[in-house]
Amino acid sequence: MPQKVELRDLVKIFPAPGGSEVRAVDGVNLVIEPGEMVTFLGPSGCGKTTTLRMVAGFEMPTSGHIFIGSEDVSTKAPNERDTAMVFQSYALFPHMTVEENVGYGLRFRKVSKQEAKQRVERIMELVGLKGLGKRAPGQLSGGQQQRVALARALVVEPQVLLFDEPLSNLDAKLREYMREEIRRVQQELRITAIYVTHDQSEAMALSDRIVVMNAGRIEQVGSPQEIYLKPATRFVADFIGKVNFLPCKVLGREKGAAVVETFGRRITVHDAPELRGEAVLVVRPEAMSLQRSEGIPVTVVNRVYLGSALEYRVELPNGEQVTVYKSNPNLEEAFAPGEQGFLYLDSHALHVLPE
Ligand SMILES: Nc1ncnc2c1ncn2[C@@H]1O[C@H](COP(=O)(O)OP(=O)(O)OP(=O)(O)O)[C@@H](O)[C@H]1O
Ligand SMILES: [Mg+2]
Repeated sequence: MPQKVELRDLVKIFPAPGGSEVRAVDGVNLVIEPGEMVTFLGPSGCGKTTTLRMVAGFEMPTSGHIFIGSEDVSTKAPNERDTAMVFQSYALFPHMTVEENVGYGLRFRKVSKQEAKQRVERIMELVGLKGLGKRAPGQLSGGQQQRVALARALVVEPQVLLFDEPLSNLDAKLREYMREEIRRVQQELRITAIYVTHDQSEAMALSDRIVVMNAGRIEQVGSPQEIYLKPATRFVADFIGKVNFLPCKVLGREKGAAVVETFGRRITVHDAPELRGEAVLVVRPEAMSLQRSEGIPVTVVNRVYLGSALEYRVELPNGEQVTVYKSNPNLEEAFAPGEQGFLYLDSHALHVLPE
């Protein structure tokens, strides 16, 4: 049975040079449901690894509690918790075969030789390492080594699986492939998992829910879609993909939607927070289009051809610039730098935030 993980008022303070201190984790509260995969996403130094290490028991909380299931494990040693961690550096034992590496964790558990052998075989097959058991880790590719690290964590059948940027040593293509593999295995085994990354597309692809962290605190928790379309703060909006902020005024509300005005145009924003007066319209580059008529008058400053899309920089009437994508572009019909155009906002993907 997968277990729930609960972080309650979790704080970690490190001493810093000169007698000062770093509040690496600053009051984190979170419930991770059994079998759920949650990703901690945030910029370097925001406390992701420290939080994960506290769940694993490598770091003791300064205050607060960690529950796995109904058990308070806050002060337990790592080997007294049913967790396993996959690291960025695979940390494989070079003098052991792949099989021995995968089975390593079973040596310290009450598992018979025969059962251990079967479990190692089964897990190796699950992660796509069949037939490679007799090799040394040095004879494997980066992606294969990462699979060994994953298999080694899975073989002990932990209640909670922890990942700290496990794919950052792989090239872009392999990273995309491996993240699908990790998601598949996690769902197949229905294991509770916490995944740490600063790569937003990885977080979007892998997670049931994303936890966006900033300076030791949680900024927002939500599904990838909620985080992307309804960011709770400017920090979240900015951190997840490209985004534009347009000045606007909230004129009123109609059935949960806000009627806003930006550059003289009235637009309806669905599921908008309760706001009045001056605000900021949050618009993704793909939620706007550049047209020959009808919309906010703009001047094209620059355009970049990305293959699948054309990325325009356009200047608004107030002199600020925004980014607009045109997918599947036809260069012959595209706007050129210096040309006038009109910006049309697609109402389904808009959001408003306080100024
Ligand atoms: N052992 C330690 N002693 C002192 N300060 C630490 C220690 N470990 C982490 N910190 C500090 O705590 C803060 C959070 O660090 P943490 O490693 O959790 O960040 P992170 O979000 O994982 O960042 P990254 O994306 O760079 O891995 C940072 O300011 C870091 O310098
Ligand atoms: Mg880290």
